[in-house]
Amino acid sequence: MTEQTSVTEAKATPVPKVPTLPDAQTVTEVKHWTDRLFSFKCKRPASLRFRSGEFVMIGLMGDVNPKTGKQKPLLRAYSIASPSWDEDLEFYSIKVQDGPLTSRLQHIQPGDEIILRPKPVGTLVHDALLPGKRLWFFATGTGFAPFASLLREPQTYEDYDEVVVTHTCREAGELTYGRELIEALKDDELLNEVIGEGFWKKIKYYPTTTREESAKMGRITDLMRSGKAFSDLGVPEINADTDRAMICGNMAFNLEIKKMLEDYGLEEGANSDPKTYVVEKAFLD
Ligand code: A2P
Repeated sequence: MTEQTSVTEAKATPVPKVPTLPDAQTVTEVKHWTDRLFSFKCKRPASLRFRSGEFVMIGLMGDVNPKTGKQKPLLRAYSIASPSWDEDLEFYSIKVQDGPLTSRLQHIQPGDEIILRPKPVGTLVHDALLPGKRLWFFATGTGFAPFASLLREPQTYEDYDEVVVTHTCREAGELTYGRELIEALKDDELLNEVIGEGFWKKIKYYPTTTREESAKMGRITDLMRSGKAFSDLGVPEINADTDRAMICGNMAFNLEIKKMLEDYGLEEGANSDPKTYVVEKAFLD
């Protein structure tokens, strides 16, 4: 009799899924944006606290080494695309068909597990910048991810009068993730309540494409050099007294825009030494 009761109870209680990986997190949502881009979410472990704009190491278990029979985790740095207050963690990723991690990560489904090392770090944080009037986000491709976090962070609008978001991609479809996120900000309950209705008018969004026709064509670097970006946006040229910048893109872009910002008089900051711009490499693999 006792035995029968306990069997019934065991059947009625759903067995929680036991994580099988070290630092495992279960994927809750996956969205494919183009054949080169996707985003996914998992729950934020309660112990994981981070500053909007930071990154963590995430990945999957690698293949079994035929010699040792052991498996090692395959990890890469990923910016957290969700804000620090969110219960979910969101990531925005490229798909590289022969990339060691993303060739496999692109196939994850809700219910699958990823490895998430809970040690957030990074320089694309408000703490690494001195106070200013206008904040520039310069992104290419998946470099938009940390700005997806910072655009949903109240401090961004508390600290600045204007937030200029530039995003350069090869094709128009690669802008969709960023565009939809910025459009959704208008209805963001937290930001409307904390910052005030109409806070989103502080945002000036400047998306451009380089290899497919869109409303604005060209690399942001060229559009700034010619002065066109500033006249289109209706803002003065970058000035170290008023302007602050965060950069996240591919290596060539980062180097080029860094040089341009330094020519405008901006200086690279760090957590321990806040200055007028900060830079981070977007994950590419
Ligand atoms: P382009 O198509 O002219 O190379 P990727 O997908 O290769 O990471 O590139 C993302 C975007 O960044 C593309 O639109 C690309 O333009 C642009 N880009 C690459 N290098 C630079 C650079 N040095 N300055 C500005 N934009 C760049």
